[in-house]
Amino acid sequence: MKLWSGRFQKDIDGLVNDFNSSIQFDARMYREDIEGSMAHAMMLGKQGIIMQEEADKIVATLGEILADIEAGKVEFSLDNEDIHMNIERILTERIGDTGKRLHTARSRNDQVALDLRMNLKKEVVRIKDLVLKLMSALGKKAEENLDAILPGYTHLQRAQPSTAGHHFMAYGEMLKRDVTRLEDCLKRMDTMPLGSCALAGTTYPIDRYFVAEKLGFANITNNSLDGVSDRDFVIEFASCLSMIMMHLSRFSEEIILWCSWEFSYIELDDAYSTGSSIMPQKKNPDVAELVRGKTGRVYGSLMGLLTMMKGLPLAYNKDMQEDKEAIFDAVDTVAQCLEVFTPMFETMTIKKDNMKNAAKGGFINATDAADYLVKKGLPFRDAYMIVGKLVTYCIVEKKTLDTLTMDDYHTLSPVFEEDVYEALDLKTCVNGRKVPGGPAEEEVSRQISELKKFVEERK
Ligand code: ARG
Repeated sequence: MKLWSGRFQKDIDGLVNDFNSSIQFDARMYREDIEGSMAHAMMLGKQGIIMQEEADKIVATLGEILADIEAGKVEFSLDNEDIHMNIERILTERIGDTGKRLHTARSRNDQVALDLRMNLKKEVVRIKDLVLKLMSALGKKAEENLDAILPGYTHLQRAQPSTAGHHFMAYGEMLKRDVTRLEDCLKRMDTMPLGSCALAGTTYPIDRYFVAEKLGFANITNNSLDGVSDRDFVIEFASCLSMIMMHLSRFSEEIILWCSWEFSYIELDDAYSTGSSIMPQKKNPDVAELVRGKTGRVYGSLMGLLTMMKGLPLAYNKDMQEDKEAIFDAVDTVAQCLEVFTPMFETMTIKKDNMKNAAKGGFINATDAADYLVKKGLPFRDAYMIVGKLVTYCIVEKKTLDTLTMDDYHTLSPVFEEDVYEALDLKTCVNGRKVPGGPAEEEVSRQISELKKFVEERK
C-alpha cells in the first residue's frame, strides 16, 4: 500500500509504478535524506510539535537504518517510489506510529530539494578537489618545461615562439576560473529549503534556522514557492561541469594531436594508451579521446536540465524528478575524466627536441625579425613587408631566417647587422617576451607560483 493511497480506490498500474519511481537513481541520497530527517525530527521535538521522546526515538532509529544501509542490509523497493518514502517506510516498520510523525510540517517537495542540495554541495567539493589535483600536476610539468621551446599556433599554423611550460599554464588559468566558478556555485547552493513544505510553508511553529544550522547551511531559502521550485543550483553546477569538460576536451584534442607521428611532441605512458586489435604498430590516445567524447554527454545533461525546467509552472512538478539522473551522470562523468586525465598528463613524456625542431621550421621568429628592424628605426609596416619577402626568399631557397647570410639579408634591407642572429635566436625571442602573461621563463615562473598559491590556499 502506498503512503499516499488514502484517496485512491484502486492500485496503481504496474507499468506506471515503475515509470514513476526514482529509487533506482535517488537511492544515492540516502545519507542526506536520513541526516535531513534527523534534523527535522530534532526540530519538531524542540518546538514541541512532537514529543521529545518521539523525536529521540526517530533520530536513534534513523541512525540504525543508516548503519544498516551502509552494511548492505537494506533493500529498497520500487513500490516505495523514491528514497524519501523508502526510508520513511522502513522507519515506520521499525517503530510504528512514532515513525508516522516524522513527516509533520514537511513535504517530499522540500525534502527532495534539501537532499539534492546537501548531496550536490559535497559533489562540488569532490570535483573541486580533483580539479585542484590537475592544477598541481600542471604547475609541476610547467616548471619542468619552462625552457621547452614550442611553436605557438593560431589557425593550427605555427605562429610565434612559446614554451610547453607557458602552454600548460594556459590550462592552469582556465582551471583556476573553473574552481572559482564552483566556489561561487556552492555559495548559491548553500541555502536550506526545508520548511517550504509542499509550496506554501506551514502553520506549525517550526524553526527553519535550527535545521539549517544542524545541517551546515549558511542560510535558508527566502520564499517557499521558490524553495521547492528552484533547480537553478543544479543547472548552474551542470554549467560549471560543462565548462570544465570544454577545457579538458581542448586539452585532450591537443594531446591527441601532439602524440601523433606528425607532431610527436609527447609520448603517452603505456599505462594510459591502448593498442589496436589489427594494427600492431598502433598506440592510441583513447583516454584523451574518451574525455573529448564524454564532453558531449555532460553538455547533454546541461541541455536536458535547461529544457526540462523551461516552461514549468510554479511550484513542484514531477518533471523535476528528471534532474537527478542528469546531474549525477554529469558529476560522475567529470569525476571519472579528471581521475584518469591527471595521471595520464603526469606520466606523459615531453619530447623537447621535437618541439624545438618544429619551432625552428615555421618562421615563428618572423615577428621578431620585423621588431628587430623597428628597433633599428623602420616603421612596423615597412619592416613587416621586408620580412615577408625574406620568408618567401627562404621558402624558395629552403632556408630559415637564422641560416640566411648577411648578403641575403642585405638584398632586402641594408639595416640588418650581425646582431640579427642573436635577435632571432628562439631563446632570445621567448625570453624577450617578459611582458606579464608572456612565455619568458621568469614570467612563467611567476604564473606557476601564483597557481601554487591558489592551490595551497584551498588545501
Ligand atoms: N522523487 C521525487 C523527485 O525526485 C520527490 C518529490 C515528489 N513529490 C511529489 N509531489 N510527487 O522529484
